[in-house]
Amino acid sequence: MNLDQLFTRNRAWARDIEQRTPGFFSRLQQQQSPQYLWIGCSDSRVPANEIVGLLPGEMFVHRNVANVVVHSDLNCLSVMQFAIDSLKVRHVIVVGHYGCSGVRAAMENLHIGIADNWIRHVQDVRNEHRGWLYSLPEGSMRLNALCELNVLEQSLNVCQTTVVQDAWARGQEVVVHGWVYGLHDGHLKDMRISVAHPESLQLAYAEALSELKKRYVPSAETK
Ligand code: CO
Repeated sequence: MNLDQLFTRNRAWARDIEQRTPGFFSRLQQQQSPQYLWIGCSDSRVPANEIVGLLPGEMFVHRNVANVVVHSDLNCLSVMQFAIDSLKVRHVIVVGHYGCSGVRAAMENLHIGIADNWIRHVQDVRNEHRGWLYSLPEGSMRLNALCELNVLEQSLNVCQTTVVQDAWARGQEVVVHGWVYGLHDGHLKDMRISVAHPESLQLAYAEALSELKKRYVPSAETK
């Protein structure tokens, strides 16, 4: 497809939305009030709005390689602060996906280039859970497990940012979630780490981790 075709498609898309909801764009121009902040992977197969059927204006989005949340990443922190402090989103959702190339590169110590330094953060996750991960069969099962573990760890990181901690301290309602997306069937799965208060963070993490590990008992894979 050439670039002209992208413009043609763009006009058709905008016309379609205006036909269904007259005045859609002029209203949206005045104000955005999304309820959700999506922190996902840059992978082209995981388009945030489309997966959950949301229109422009309904979800604030930050994406990077392997949906990593680093405490010194000004880009991600700025997005989070704007979404939480100004737009007052109610839910922050970290969304990983199975078959993530960034996670695979981390697992297999692949040399990609500058991204190696970014993926180091996922290797930290791998190393943290190394004993358990390497008890699983090598291949897709172990990779899927690291994709899920990465979601839990990055959700934990979101909860520990000053942005979320400050919001909770002033009584603002913000719930942090971790989901994982299946490229093979287009389905989202809730990792069941939903945190709404700083006090419930450690327990929510521990329970979600224990649930995750139960799903990966190697013998259970055959049932
Ligand atoms: Co990915």
